[in-house]
Amino acid sequence: MDSRQPIFVFISGAGKTLEAIIRGCVVAEVKHVYSSVDDAMGLTVARDAGIMRNAAFNNDKISIEQLDYMIDRVGVTPKLIVLAGYMKLLTPEFISYATKLGISIINIHPSLLPKHKGLNTHQRVLDAGDKLHGFTVHHVTDELDSGPIIHQTDFRVVEDDTVESLMVCVKMREQLFYPMIIDGILDDSK
Ligand code: GRF
Repeated sequence: MDSRQPIFVFISGAGKTLEAIIRGCVVAEVKHVYSSVDDAMGLTVARDAGIMRNAAFNNDKISIEQLDYMIDRVGVTPKLIVLAGYMKLLTPEFISYATKLGISIINIHPSLLPKHKGLNTHQRVLDAGDKLHGFTVHHVTDELDSGPIIHQTDFRVVEDDTVESLMVCVKMREQLFYPMIIDGILDDSK
C-alpha cells in the first residue's frame, strides 16, 4: 500500500524549494504545482518531475474554482497546501474553503517571525544588527507572514555577513528542513 500523502505546492519563482520538497519528502507527494507567475522557472522543475501544474491567468489571485479544478484534475484532495516562495496573499475565502475541505496551508518565510515580515529580510537583519537570523514555517492566515508558528531554525549572524551570505545560509537550511517539517505534519495528522 502506498502510504504517501498528497500535497499541492504553490510557487512564484525559481522553484528551488519546490525541488527540495520533491526530492526530500518521503511521506508527502507533490501532486500539483500552482504558480502565480506564468513563466516561473519552478514550473519547469514541476514539468521535469512529471507533476501536473498550472499558472495564474493575468497574475490574478487564486480562486476557489482553481483549487477545485486542481483537485478534479489530480483526482485527490490534498492534505496540505505548501507555499514555497509564493508571493501572493491568499484571500480569506480561499483559506476558509480549503479549511472546509480539510486542507491545511503552510508557508516558509526567510526570517525569525514576528521579526521582518515581508520582503528584503536579509538586508533588514543586517540593518537591525540582529545577532540571530533564520527561517520560520507557519500556518497561513489572510494576514502577511502572521499565522501560528510551527517551526523556526536559527543561526548566528557573523561580522562579515552580507545579504548574499545570509541568503545562502537561510536557503540551505530551508531546503534541508522544510521537507522534513512537511513530512512531520503529515505524520502527526494520521
Ligand atoms: C525562500 O527563501 C522562502 O523562504 C521564500 O521564498 C524563497 C523561495 O525561493 N518565501 P525559490 O523560488 O524556492 O527558489
